[in-house]
Amino acid sequence: MAEKKEKKPNLLRLNPLDFTKLTPVRKARIEAAPARELRPADTYVPNRIANALHPDVQYLKVTEIIEHDCDNKSYILGPDHAKGTDALAWFSAGQYLSLSMEIGESFATRPYSIASSPNDALKGEYRITVRRTAGGFVSGHILDTWKIGTPVTASQPLGEFTYEPLRDAKHIIGLAGGSGITPFRSLAYAVAEGIEDAQMTLLYGSRTKNDALFDEEFTALAEKCPAFRYVNVLSEETRDGCEHGFLTAELIRKYAPEGEYSVFVCGPSAMYRFLDEELPKLGLRRKFIRRELFGECRDPAKEEGYPGSKAASYQLTVRVSGKDTVMTCRADESLLAAMERAGVKAPSHCRSGECGWCRSKLVSGEVFVPKRMDGRREADFLYGFIHPCCTFPLSDIVLDVPPFHP
Ligand code: FES
Repeated sequence: MAEKKEKKPNLLRLNPLDFTKLTPVRKARIEAAPARELRPADTYVPNRIANALHPDVQYLKVTEIIEHDCDNKSYILGPDHAKGTDALAWFSAGQYLSLSMEIGESFATRPYSIASSPNDALKGEYRITVRRTAGGFVSGHILDTWKIGTPVTASQPLGEFTYEPLRDAKHIIGLAGGSGITPFRSLAYAVAEGIEDAQMTLLYGSRTKNDALFDEEFTALAEKCPAFRYVNVLSEETRDGCEHGFLTAELIRKYAPEGEYSVFVCGPSAMYRFLDEELPKLGLRRKFIRRELFGECRDPAKEEGYPGSKAASYQLTVRVSGKDTVMTCRADESLLAAMERAGVKAPSHCRSGECGWCRSKLVSGEVFVPKRMDGRREADFLYGFIHPCCTFPLSDIVLDVPPFHP
């Protein structure tokens, strides 16, 4: 006799609400369980681990200041126990902290790469390095006012400028310029201490050897760690043992290993523009080119397709939880910069259109977003959302902004 074939349920047609019929044991257990209130969320171990790794905010204070020269200082930040931060969140080398602070009538946030080894976080230390920039509102404030004990409000570690073995090649060529060296200090220690199973060759572009931050430290690290190689590339000085010129494709090839390698880039916008011409000559797969995206657009008129007049200024109405604040926004400043100048606390982290933290609803008005910074998703375009950190007004604007959480 032919065996009767058992009829299997069509899983696609199952109603999830009928699942209790399929699991009578589970249903009986649920019905027999006593109805009692759940414990507070932070008493569950998984929640406590998640909060320790990804705290909403970290209250820190300056514990040490290292002066490199009058325009560059490193700050060691430790947990501010008095404010409830007992330990620092772990991070991946290459990540940053978003610092928020009030300066006079203004409120500002800025991303700073963590320059120390991830192992230092376990000892209660993050290190950031601040360089004075012309017209730099926040960098000037930090360099001129921070002292030992200054309280600092920081985000959890953020950012994607990290080594990922599933995506990146085993050998990293780091291309650094100016203050873009800071995440590479963290990556160099992560490689030297075996946190990242990779090798790194760091090509550091600066005008002269004296301008190269952490120069002696990198030289010493390269001498004792075979996985790390360090090369000075000087544009305005010729010196034995250093390369002279710029970070060209030819120079990168000279130091690149046989086979695959990833290129990590962090530096000033002029360096990115130069490398936009050079990197394609290497013929690397797209995933092997990684860029740190820090850097606000400070002049929309220099961006491709800018249709406005940067001499104009407009009315910006910012709506937070139904309350309107009206301010002026110059055509050459981002909506986020105008809000911060007016003292409105608006969410932001990367300030370069990447993270989406500042995402806000454009209620009315015309705006310009530089193409190279437009990190919006399809749904954002469809429903009228923008990233104020890289959006410039072309008319009066009404913007609905989510409430700020530190
Ligand atoms: S702050 Fe990251 S996208 Fe605006």
